[in-house]
Amino acid sequence: MDISTPFEENQDQLSPNRNIAPLTAALDKEKRLVVGGCRLSKLAEDYGTPLYVIDELTVRASCREYRDSLIKYYPGDSLPLYASKANSSLLLSSLVASEGMGIDVVSEGELITALKGGIPNHKIVFHGNNKSKDELLLAYKNDVKIVLDNQFDIDQLKEIVEPDVKKARLILRFTPGIECHTHEYIKTGHIDSKFGFDPDALNDIFIQLKDIEWGELVGLHAHIGSQIFEVEPHRDLAEVMVKALQKGRELGHSLEILNVGGGLGIRYTSSDDPPSIAHWVEVISNAVVEACNKRSLKLPFLMCEPGRSIVGTSGLTLYRIGSRKEIPGLKTYVAIDGGMSDNPRPITYQSSYTAVLVDKPLAKTNEIVTIAGKHCESGDVLLNDFPLPICSSGDVLAVFSTGAYNSSMSSNYNRIPKPAAVIVLEKTSEVIQRRELPEDLLRNDILPDRFMENVR
Ligand code: LLP
Repeated sequence: MDISTPFEENQDQLSPNRNIAPLTAALDKEKRLVVGGCRLSKLAEDYGTPLYVIDELTVRASCREYRDSLIKYYPGDSLPLYASKANSSLLLSSLVASEGMGIDVVSEGELITALKGGIPNHKIVFHGNNKSKDELLLAYKNDVKIVLDNQFDIDQLKEIVEPDVKKARLILRFTPGIECHTHEYIKTGHIDSKFGFDPDALNDIFIQLKDIEWGELVGLHAHIGSQIFEVEPHRDLAEVMVKALQKGRELGHSLEILNVGGGLGIRYTSSDDPPSIAHWVEVISNAVVEACNKRSLKLPFLMCEPGRSIVGTSGLTLYRIGSRKEIPGLKTYVAIDGGMSDNPRPITYQSSYTAVLVDKPLAKTNEIVTIAGKHCESGDVLLNDFPLPICSSGDVLAVFSTGAYNSSMSSNYNRIPKPAAVIVLEKTSEVIQRRELPEDLLRNDILPDRFMENVR
């Protein structure tokens, strides 16, 4: 496996989603791995492990590639939104806001993080297939665009909105009926998906939403899935969406916005070969323009919602190696001080990753080991049969491409506290999420009085 390319000197500055390691990954004089100018083994010493590390320049480069490519390839107005489910924090909200991006949120938690992180309200889009009344109210009060996912959303909103004060700004989500090759759990565009209105129901919904007092339908949304390497499904999506846009406009809705969702894949291992951000944007932009021209439609305001390709390869996780178990002729387990609680993707989707020992990233690999987590679950394995140089307890291991869907999907299984996260830039590191303490995990436990006498 070719794992050296990501941090060879003078590496080609590829689209961030096509690199396994962050763009600033480099080697110091002793050939130790450095990211954002910070030596990774020093970060592990200073902040402890497991540690999430985010490279600021890589996040910024991804945001800029989306933004600049939209400007280059799409002749109408446009806005890339960061899908904050990939990794939601005040820091990331603030960072993507400073790059001019909007944000997609799916819960009250993500919404307040975006608002407090400085994303302008009009650049926030609120999703969800079962939004609570409180969530809808918060979104409505804050002038956030609300995605109608189902009839329940419509019925609840009607009760919440005060038409005399202001209307709700609505985007209609539908299932486009497009298949793509990705893990079954992360497909969303197929007809039996739980998200969005059935395409056959669209006409009725357009009619139902005509001339309503409580809201204004301003756009359409669809999302076909995640970690996608082909561009054809998105090209097809543009055609399906523009067709729906035409229908909606014919039925009297202004429908300025077309939001094509996210889904662009990233490189986790050297065999992954996703298209660049620029190419993805180019294909979608051309397809939307073509579909509109064909029908003589005014170009919509184009939105997309990338998550993984904004933050995925900017992140890595540092672990310290602990115990080892050799099963002669079968397997060697090397255990790290984290695992499925900080990265549930391998156990959930059988995802593969790339890892190196941070102080000898280019050393010859001379054993095949299975990197096991520390949780009480046999399936808690981060990398199966992976080549590493001989390693010993105390060595620091970096697992790459963990910026997306790791921290945001982390848990406290086995009452293991969540890792700290730091951001690195130009030789400086700053904590952006403090390490959870074991005591923090008792925060919400309540012991009724009648049990108190048993407590020391
Ligand atoms: N928009 C909507 C409506 C979505 O549901 C998603 C992801 C996105 C945008 C962003 O997609 P992205 O650009 O990140 O592919 N936990 C899974 C991924 C679930 C994706 C859910 N929706 C994983 O770890 O692979």
